[in-house]
Amino acid sequence: MGGSDVRVKMLAAPINPSDINMIQGNYGLLPELPAVGGNEGVGRVEAVGSDVTGLKPGDWVIPANAGLGTWRTEAVFREEALIRVPSDIPLQSAATLGVNPCTAYRMLKDFEQLRPGDSVIQNASNSGVGQAVIQIAAALGLRTINVVRDRPDLQKLTQRLKNLGAEHVFTEEELRGPEMKSFFKDVPPPRLALNCVGGKSSTELLRHLAPGGTMVTYGGMAKQPVIASVSLLIFKDVRLRGFWLSQWKKNHSPDEFKELILTLCELIRQGQLSAPACSEVPLQDFAQALEACMKPFVSSKQILTMC
Ligand SMILES: NC(=O)c1ccc[n+]([C@@H]2O[C@H](COP(=O)([O-])OP(=O)(O)OC[C@H]3O[C@@H](n4cnc5c(N)ncnc54)[C@H](OP(=O)(O)O)[C@@H]3O)[C@@H](O)[C@H]2O)c1
Repeated sequence: MGGSDVRVKMLAAPINPSDINMIQGNYGLLPELPAVGGNEGVGRVEAVGSDVTGLKPGDWVIPANAGLGTWRTEAVFREEALIRVPSDIPLQSAATLGVNPCTAYRMLKDFEQLRPGDSVIQNASNSGVGQAVIQIAAALGLRTINVVRDRPDLQKLTQRLKNLGAEHVFTEEELRGPEMKSFFKDVPPPRLALNCVGGKSSTELLRHLAPGGTMVTYGGMAKQPVIASVSLLIFKDVRLRGFWLSQWKKNHSPDEFKELILTLCELIRQGQLSAPACSEVPLQDFAQALEACMKPFVSSKQILTMC
């Protein structure tokens, strides 16, 4: 082990859609091969080299950037590849902290100046990002209009999202229905829409956006393009933007990322941000976890455990 090296025992690591995209070769960032899968997770420091100043054995660490390869039991990393997180937060929260809640927080803060009482609309609201959006928005005093795909256990899912702080939950079909007109007579139209899906779903979000509002696309789960009608662009001047956390990190210092992590940890400690619904699967059963994460309507993040 070199002077700047840190030996880490991995504890838990989720399987996110971007991990699958990376393996499939269609992600914005591809590691050199051979590579270990997994872009986020939490590990415990076991030993540090003589030049390491910011970490000590026993600390919990998460990757500073995508591409670290977290689906493994142990590894030696450079100190700057890791960020320390407090070990008094739940393991599942630490394992899922570095990507989705960060994305949710930045999208709520960086595109529109929202005030308490303002509303935000999003699709795939039961995704990891979606659940973080619901909770962080509630902590900021924002109301969320949440769209999900219809499913047999819709009532259960709706209740779960409302327990997290979701103000309204609609299916994709309901969002297209005529009753939304009367809904938006009582509720001011949102100035921010968060699009995880693309295709028809994103067209519907745009339709309900306030004039001059912004739709931020951060995921493309339907693998369909975003289509904005000419009339919405001309008569409502809606703005189409994109967000990628890896790019945000390139544009900001490591200290700003650390500050973001600490802000989120504070929300976790205050009981305002919990981990997404998840299923823990021992690392050796990874094939089962990979199969589960590719199925629709699972509503449970697969987390590989190594402890
Ligand atoms: N840009 C960034 O910086 C950034 C950061 C984090 C995540 N992301 C992206 O955000 C997305 C969600 O990530 P996550 O970790 O939150 O995902 P996740 O927890 O695995 O959830 C996946 C979500 O996608 C929905 N979905 C799957 N296939 C769909 C389809 N064909 N049409 C509509 N919805 C579909 C699922 O809904 P059902 O329950 O209905 O199946 C579920 O809500 C991914 O595309 C990921 O790459 C981007």
